[in-house]
Amino acid sequence: MATTTLTPHQKALRSSVALKALMALTGLVMIGFLLMHMYGNLKVFLGEEAFDHYAHWLKGDILYPLIPSGWFIWLFRAFMVASIVAHIFAAYKLTVRAQAGRGRGYEVKKTIQQTYAARTMRWGGVILAGFLVFHLLQYTAMVLPVGFTVGDGPYDMVVHSFGNWWLVLAYALWLVTVCLHVRHGFWSAFTTLGANTSPNARAVLNGLAWAVAVLLFLGVMSMPVAVLLGWVGN
Ligand code: HEM
Repeated sequence: MATTTLTPHQKALRSSVALKALMALTGLVMIGFLLMHMYGNLKVFLGEEAFDHYAHWLKGDILYPLIPSGWFIWLFRAFMVASIVAHIFAAYKLTVRAQAGRGRGYEVKKTIQQTYAARTMRWGGVILAGFLVFHLLQYTAMVLPVGFTVGDGPYDMVVHSFGNWWLVLAYALWLVTVCLHVRHGFWSAFTTLGANTSPNARAVLNGLAWAVAVLLFLGVMSMPVAVLLGWVGN
C-alpha cells in the first residue's frame, strides 16, 4: 500500500478542519442545552409546584438505578464543561492561525459581505461567557444572590429576582448577544458539517438559524418579562 506524506500545509489544513468540526459539534451541544434550559424555565408558567418539582428532578433520580441517585447532574455538568472548554480551545487556535496567516500574502481578500452576527462572533462569545459566569454565581452557586434570598426555592428565586427591571434588562441584553452568537453559530456549524451545498440549502439553513435564534430569545425572555409585568409570581 502506498504511503502518502503530508506537507506541513496539508497537515495544518487537516487540523483546521478538525478544529472547525469540533467547534461545530460542541456549539450544537450548547444550542441543545439552551433549548432544554428554555423549556425547563417555561415551567414557571405552570406554577410553583411544577417548576420546583422539575428543578429537583434534575438533581435527583435521572437514570437511577443505572447510575446512583444524584449523579446525572454531575455527569451532565462535566460533559457541558468539557464542551465549553473544547469550543473555546478550538476558537482560540483557529483565531491564532487566522491572524498568523494574515499579511503574508496567503489570505484571500474578503469581498463577501459578512452579517453583524458573523463579525462579532469572537467578542460576542467573550461577552456571552462573561455574563454566564455571573449567571452561575447568581443561581447555581448563589454567591451573588441578586434579587432573592439564599434559601428561596427555585421558583421563588426567579420570580423574586425578575421583579427588578434592571435585571430583566441585563438578561435581555445578554440574550441578544447569545442569540446573535447562536444565529451565526448554527449556520456556521451546519456549513462545516456539509449542509450548505446549494442556494436552496443555504436559504433553508438561513431560515432555520433565524428561527432557532428568535425562538430562543422569545422563549427565554418570556419568563422574566412575565414576572416583571406581574403575570406570574406572587
Ligand atoms: C432568563 C433567562 C434565564 C433564567 C431565568 C435562568 C435560570 C437558571 C436557574 C434558576 C439556574 C439554576 C438551576 C439550579 O441550579 O437549580 C440556571 C442554571 C444554569 N443556566 Fe440559566 N437561566 C437563564 C438563561 C441562561 C442562558 C442564556 C444560559 C447560557 C448561555 C444559561 C446557562 C445556565 C447554566 C450553564 C446553568 C447551570 C446548570 C447546572 O447547574 O448544571 N442560562 N439558570
